[in-house]
Amino acid sequence: MNNFKPVVQGFEQQFPKFLPQDPNQLCEAIRYSALAPGKRLRPYLLIETASIFNAPTPQALAAAAAIECVHVYSLIHDDLPAMDDDDERRGQPTLHKKYDEATAILAGDALLTLAFSILGEHAPQLSKPLADAAGWAGMVGGQMIDLAAENKTLKLEEIFILQSLKTGALFHFCTQAGAMLGNASETEKAALKEYTSALGLLFQLTDDLLDAEGDPSKLGKATRKDDAAGKATTISLLGMDGAKALIIEQANLAKNALLKLKGREVIHLHGLIDFIQNRER
Ligand code: IPE
Ligand code: IPE
Ligand code: MG
Ligand code: MG
Ligand code: MG
Repeated sequence: MNNFKPVVQGFEQQFPKFLPQDPNQLCEAIRYSALAPGKRLRPYLLIETASIFNAPTPQALAAAAAIECVHVYSLIHDDLPAMDDDDERRGQPTLHKKYDEATAILAGDALLTLAFSILGEHAPQLSKPLADAAGWAGMVGGQMIDLAAENKTLKLEEIFILQSLKTGALFHFCTQAGAMLGNASETEKAALKEYTSALGLLFQLTDDLLDAEGDPSKLGKATRKDDAAGKATTISLLGMDGAKALIIEQANLAKNALLKLKGREVIHLHGLIDFIQNRER
C-alpha cells in the first residue's frame, strides 16, 4: 500500500471539481463535510482495483468521487440525533452541529443524488450497482438493522449480516466498479467479491474496536459510544479478545481471496488489508 499517499493525493486534487461551488449554505455544507480530512479508503480501493485491470483513469476517478459522495452522505445522516447522535466527525463538528439538522439532511440528500449525476455523466453502467449497494438491500438496509438492534443480543451471523450491509456493501461496490471498468473476468469478479466481503467486515470490526479502545484525537470522532448506545457489535457479543480473533480471521480470508487473482498485481490490495487491520484512525 506504498502507493496510498500519491493515489489519495491525486484523488484529493480532483474531488473538489465534482462538488458544487455555489456560495450558498447548502453547497458550503456539502463541501464542509466532503472536503474534511477523511481517509478516502473507498476511492483508493476503487482506483487501485481499476488500475489492476487497466481501466480508463477518468472513469475510475469519477466513480471514486461518486462512492465518496455516497459515503459522506451516509456519515452525515449516521451522525444525526435520530441516528447515532454524534457531535464530532473527521476532527470537526458534525454537519448538524455546524449548521442545523435540516441542512444536514438536505446536504446528505444532495450528495446522494450528486453521486448518480456524476455516474450518469462519466460511467452510467455503474448506476445500478451503486444504487443497489447504497439502498435498502445495502448500506441503508444495514443502517436500519443497526438501529433496530440497539439493546438487543444478535447472533454472530446476524451481526455479520448487519455489518456486511451497512459497511461491506459500499466496499463491494468499489471493487465491482473497478472490475467492471477494466473488463475483469467473472472469476476475477468472484475473487474480488470474496476479498471485499472480508475487507468490509475487517473494516467494521476495527471500527468497533477503535470505538472501544481508540484515541478520539486520532480518530477525529468520539469513542466509547457503541456500548453506551447498546449497539450490537462483535465486542458486545464476544468481548475484545473475541473481536480481535475475528479481525485476524477476516484479514486472512481477504489475503486468501487475493491469491485467486492470478497474474494480477495485487500487492497494494494486500497492503490495504494490513493498513485496515492495524489502523488507528
Ligand atoms: C466510517 O468510515 C464509517 C464506517 C463505515 C464505520 P471511515 O472510517 O472510512 O470514515 P472517513 O471517510 O475516514 O471519515
Ligand atoms: C456507520 O457505522 C456505517 C455507515 C453506513 C455510516 P458506525 O455508526 O459505526 O460509524 P461511525 O463509528 O459513526 O463512524
Ligand atoms: Mg451508526
Ligand atoms: Mg455512527
Ligand atoms: Mg463506529
